[in-house]
Amino acid sequence: VEETYIMVKPDGVQRGLVGEIISRFEKKGFKLTGLKLFQCPKELAEEHYKDLKAKPFFPKLTEYITSGPVVCMAWEGVGVVASARKLIGATNPLQAEPGTIRGDLAVQTGRNVIHGSDSPENGVREIALWFKEGELCPWTQAQAPWLRE
Ligand code: GTP
Ligand code: MG
Repeated sequence: VEETYIMVKPDGVQRGLVGEIISRFEKKGFKLTGLKLFQCPKELAEEHYKDLKAKPFFPKLTEYITSGPVVCMAWEGVGVVASARKLIGATNPLQAEPGTIRGDLAVQTGRNVIHGSDSPENGVREIALWFKEGELCPWTQAQAPWLRE
């Protein structure tokens, strides 16, 4: 089944938005399989965002991601990657629709509170990058029959 890497960025932690953000994914019906508060080292931030290395904002981006603890999450479910991106909203929070996390809770691209994997392949890659083997916890969701027929 599909999995995605979701991360509350340092601004989301500092602004007290962790519970609200987790709640949106829980209420939607996805399954949480990994969760930790974590101070990201510079090297990991650079590896995670390596596709953006040539961008002018790359140094500011890695500085931002390492500026305080993040909340790392693995979420599982049918179609979870694309659905999470919809719940998160556009990269620029001013362009993100109301009702989305960025649309409701942020105002600037450089402080957009949350990350979500952009493809199932990157979901797998990023979960392996941010979590060690024993940190993930598979479990059976009791509400599963009430989520899917
Ligand atoms: P992520 O879920 O964090 O990967 O965001 P995204 O997929 O919506 O956007 P993208 O992968 O293109 O960019 C990654 C992150 O870099 C964004 O979420 C922003 O935090 C940051 N970023 C992107 N573009 C800009 C920019 O023009 N200026 C600044 N300061 N930051 C940017
Ligand atoms: Mg991205």
